[in-house]
Amino acid sequence: MKVVDTPQKMRELAETLRREEAPLGLVPTMGALHEGHISLIDRATSECGAAVVSIFVNPAQFAAGEDYDTYPRTYHADLEACREMGVACVYAPRANAMYPGGYDTWVDVPGLGAPLCGARRQGHFRGVATVVLKLLAACLPHRAYFGEKDYQQLVLIRRMTRDLDLGVEIVPCPIVREDDGMALSSRNAYLSADERSRARAISAALFDAKKKVAAGERLSAAIIQACVDELEEAGSRVDYVEIVEPATLERVETINGAARMAVAAYIGETRLIDNILLEPDDEA
Ligand code: PAF
Repeated sequence: MKVVDTPQKMRELAETLRREEAPLGLVPTMGALHEGHISLIDRATSECGAAVVSIFVNPAQFAAGEDYDTYPRTYHADLEACREMGVACVYAPRANAMYPGGYDTWVDVPGLGAPLCGARRQGHFRGVATVVLKLLAACLPHRAYFGEKDYQQLVLIRRMTRDLDLGVEIVPCPIVREDDGMALSSRNAYLSADERSRARAISAALFDAKKKVAAGERLSAAIIQACVDELEEAGSRVDYVEIVEPATLERVETINGAARMAVAAYIGETRLIDNILLEPDDEA
């Protein structure tokens, strides 16, 4: 397995991989790999001729006061996991290779970046879109794999690649959950044992919402209020609960077709997100 740390060296290797081992897959990550990432890497290594995993904690997607400095970093264990999974190359640039002095180009997807997390995390999606474009430009993949856990990110990146004619297939991958339903996230590492047990309320509330829709409830306001109540009862501070149209992320008042319910909530100091697909024709 190769480990590459500059965009120039990555591009050079990617040109060969793309030509000789097509299709080339990319799994963009910020490291601290968990089973959710492993499921993406597994898809990429089994579906592609070669897979690149990028590991880069992107400063541009953290606002002032967020957890850039404390974000979990497990670089050596991550490299080992990639090696074991048959990854062809890990791309792990340093911040000054990605954003050298004088760096001044940013990518904005203003519509899809505005609601949900975009309304709460200033500049977050501009940082995400910019770094993903840079990763795609360096790694030249035919396919890039993104988890549905970061649903807004997935939708926005798909739009960016279409709008900019990048010719990359964005492959959505299902959320990986613990046995009690909790979605895997690198930020789960911040939770104490007590917080971890309270955090299961997030996925539980989403699954309850799905059941309500299956039982015939169609009014978003009622479903959202029940979810907020459940989260507050579990001692979490709700950042938002919304039900949106899956492609445009516009609010849905009445559930007549597929919709995404998205939650962000604080358990102690840790902000967690999760989401679920609601479908009116779900079985009760
Ligand atoms: O989902 C993530 O880990 C990050 O937002 C990504 C896509 C690697 C960009 O930094």
